[in-house]
This record gives sequence, C-alpha cells and structure tokens, in this order.
Amino acid sequence: MMRVGELEIGFLGGWTERRMHRRRRIADDLPWGTLDLSAYRQDELVHAREVWTNGVFTEYASAAAFSQLATAFIECGAPIDLTATCADIVVDEIAHVELVSRVVVEIGGAVPYALELDKITQLVDPEAPALLRAAELAVTTSCVGESLSVPALQRSRTLTTNPLMRGVLDRLVRDEGPHAQLGPRFLAWANPRMTDDHRAWLARVALDAIAVYAPLWQGEVAADVANGLGVADDDGYQGTMTAAVRDKIAGRLERCGIHLDPDRLAELL
Ligand SMILES: [Fe+2]
Ligand SMILES: [Fe+2]
Repeated sequence: MMRVGELEIGFLGGWTERRMHRRRRIADDLPWGTLDLSAYRQDELVHAREVWTNGVFTEYASAAAFSQLATAFIECGAPIDLTATCADIVVDEIAHVELVSRVVVEIGGAVPYALELDKITQLVDPEAPALLRAAELAVTTSCVGESLSVPALQRSRTLTTNPLMRGVLDRLVRDEGPHAQLGPRFLAWANPRMTDDHRAWLARVALDAIAVYAPLWQGEVAADVANGLGVADDDGYQGTMTAAVRDKIAGRLERCGIHLDPDRLAELL
C-alpha cells in the first residue's frame, strides 16, 4: 500500500493482481532503495516530491482520458485494433500510477495534494456524435497531451545519471511514444468521415489544449533544480517543449488535414 496525499494506492491481491502483473510488470526489477537522498538539498527534494506527486495525478488523468477515448471508439465503430490498443493504453497508465507512486515513496513521500479522482473525467459535449467526441479526446489527450509528455520525459532522462530514475524514466518514455501516435492514427481513419467545419473546430480544440500547457514553457526558468531526481525545468526544457508543439503536434495534425491557425500558434510559443 502506498499513500499519496489523501489517496491510498494499493492492490486488492489475488488473481487480479497476478493478472495485471503478468501483463505489466514494469516496476519490480528497478533498483529501489538505492537513492542517496542526502546528496540533495532540502528544497531540491521538496521540488522533486511536488513534481512526482503531481505525476501520480497526471497518470490517473491519462488513464481516465484513454478510457473515455476507448468508449468513444467503440461508440463510433472505430477499427477494433485501434480500440483494443486504446484500452490497453489504459492499463499502461494504471501501471504508471504504480511506478510513479513508488518513486514518490522513494524520495520521501507525497507533498499535500488534493487528488480528486471523481473530477478527473474530461467534459466533452454529450450531444456530439461519437466520432466527434472521439476526435476531440484524441486531439486533447493523444495529439497534444501525450506529445508533450514524451519530450519532457526524454529531457529528464537525458539529465539523470541515477540508475533508479533512469530506469523509471526509460519505462515511461518507452510507453508514452505509442500513446502520442494513437490520436493521429485515429484521425487518419476518421478524416474522410469529417467535414471541413469539423476539422476547423478540431484545430481550435488543439490550440485551446496547447494553451493549457503553455505555462510550462512560458514561465520563469527555475534555476538550480535537482536534475538527478527526474525533474527538468531549465532553458533546454523550454526549447524542447516548443519544438514538440511545432513538430509533433502541429506537424502531425497538419498531415491529418487539421491546420492550426499560425498566428495563434505563434502567440502560444
Ligand atoms: Fe503515463
Ligand atoms: Fe501516456
């Protein structure tokens, strides 16, 4: 049992735990217990605990979003391999909850954090047809959210020399790549089923989603952070993120027929 803020994260045990770990045993063989916390200043540790505590929430949020997306895929009759992959990604994200929670425990425990799981579901227009609900979630969750988490994790991975943190970040990076590819694959399938108005609307949805993340690269650069603990907010990080917005988000959406307004995009970068 791991405690993250008010939340207890643990296993019921028995066949459900065995089944999950048969499919996803991503945490057990890492070198837990090898971190030397005395090598870090107190403020560095607190910052790392904040970042990784928030990470538990974002993994849960990704699980919820892909779960909603899988349901929308079913409702719009998307190809079954796409739907099964989406549902499988939900399991990836729950395995990440386990992995990230273990990191939180390892670095001294969670910081106070209101983790309200009953408010975690994204609100999409319930009146919209399933295809458009799926497209909206594919854009916000996969095309935007996951496309930004990949370079952020890679950057942290590059700056980390510690074997435990390298192992954790390696596993997260390995999984998140395909998560960012699922949205474009769905949009390529959905494209002939959509109108120009739908595509223009999705372009606005994408820009709104990018705007939510913009403080990550528009804010002050935090100096002197503990990069060894998987935290990477420096100058290089901001450049990495804006490059990802251009290449991974705008570029991929463009190839799916979704053209982001260049002026609004430039304002966000
Ligand atoms: Fe994840
Ligand atoms: Fe993910």
